[in-house]
Amino acid sequence: MAQLRQRTSMKWRVHPEDVLPLWVAEMDVPLAPAVTEALRAAVDLGDTGYPHGTAYAEALAGFAAERWKWDGLRVENTALVPDVMLGIVETLRLVTGPGDAVVVCSPVYPPFYAFVAHDGREVIEAPLGPDGRMDLAALDEAFARARRHGRRAAFLMSNPHNPTGTVHTRAELEAVAALAREHGVRVVSDEIHAPLVLPGAVFTPFLGVPGGENGFALTSASKAWNLAGLKAALAVAGPEAAADLRRMPEEVGHGPSHLGIIAHTAAFRDGTQWLDDLLAGLSANRTLLGRLVEEHLPGVRYRPPEGTYLAWLDCTHLGLHEDGPAEGPGVVSDLAGPARMFLDEARVALSSGHVFGTGGTGCVRLNFATSPAVLREALARMGRAVQAL
Ligand SMILES: Cc1ncc(COP(=O)(O)O)c(C=O)c1O
Repeated sequence: MAQLRQRTSMKWRVHPEDVLPLWVAEMDVPLAPAVTEALRAAVDLGDTGYPHGTAYAEALAGFAAERWKWDGLRVENTALVPDVMLGIVETLRLVTGPGDAVVVCSPVYPPFYAFVAHDGREVIEAPLGPDGRMDLAALDEAFARARRHGRRAAFLMSNPHNPTGTVHTRAELEAVAALAREHGVRVVSDEIHAPLVLPGAVFTPFLGVPGGENGFALTSASKAWNLAGLKAALAVAGPEAAADLRRMPEEVGHGPSHLGIIAHTAAFRDGTQWLDDLLAGLSANRTLLGRLVEEHLPGVRYRPPEGTYLAWLDCTHLGLHEDGPAEGPGVVSDLAGPARMFLDEARVALSSGHVFGTGGTGCVRLNFATSPAVLREALARMGRAVQAL
């Protein structure tokens, strides 16, 4: 903990020292040796100029073939983008215009609202079903609304889904692809959490399913190898979307840094053993969290996630969600309801559910990519806070 508190990133600096930070998606892990070595070699060499070449896309293609048995990633159908969110914005610009609609499945990663709205697109929600999975009827309705008056539209999907950790199945993705084609809606699949699928689930790349050929995927090693501070991501086009991707302005590719690209390339190419060790730890934490919720927070609903290191805790029974400012979705730092109470009374920082859109109020998102000791302490504190209500 003393070492972690020396970090200067957002997770460790937003709140005072008595707060356990289990909110923003950074992990409490040392870097993968493959990444450290690649960065150290570059720094030692003074290799800190402008990036060149396709090594990052090649590393991702190799990882996808090995890990997901998907060999459809064509390096020539990829583009470097500064990070996943800016890549999403630039990709949406290829297939929609100002005033057009972008469909999202709420509750969902808050920047999906903020970035899309900031770029002048309307966000239309197709809430997840009560089982936390995509609801085809809701999507059908949202796609129809998005396409009214013949406007262009896109579906921005989180695959796997942040915050519920749902890993969409091949059958679900095929159904989404068919529905999107029927409506003439373009799919943009955010696959940043794809390497973080836990035992029991299988990740399916959207571009690999029949019907997904006109879609896009955005990804990076940022979540799985904790590289958010080393920005570099990839946009990948399916074969029918390749011509669209070629229209992405060249200057977008000047955003990622050379060191970022070196780090992400090393992660995908040489960081798989480290990733497997990480996933074993996350899987154990997922189980531990279930036990801790049962022990300290009876009444809180925890559906163990299939992927990601994020747990979505439904605290609606506490009846706390009426009190917050409820600013609406998108504002990551906004706290209300149970997240506000857990910060004030338990000194545990979580992400507030209401900023994830419809279905988020009364819930909190907990980041369990930390040590079992921190998890135990956090849940004990949270339990005491609830008892004192
Ligand atoms: C679903 C999702 N997309 C995008 C991001 C952010 O990616 P980047 O920092 O590359 O924009 C996150 C970060 O947690 C995320 O969970």
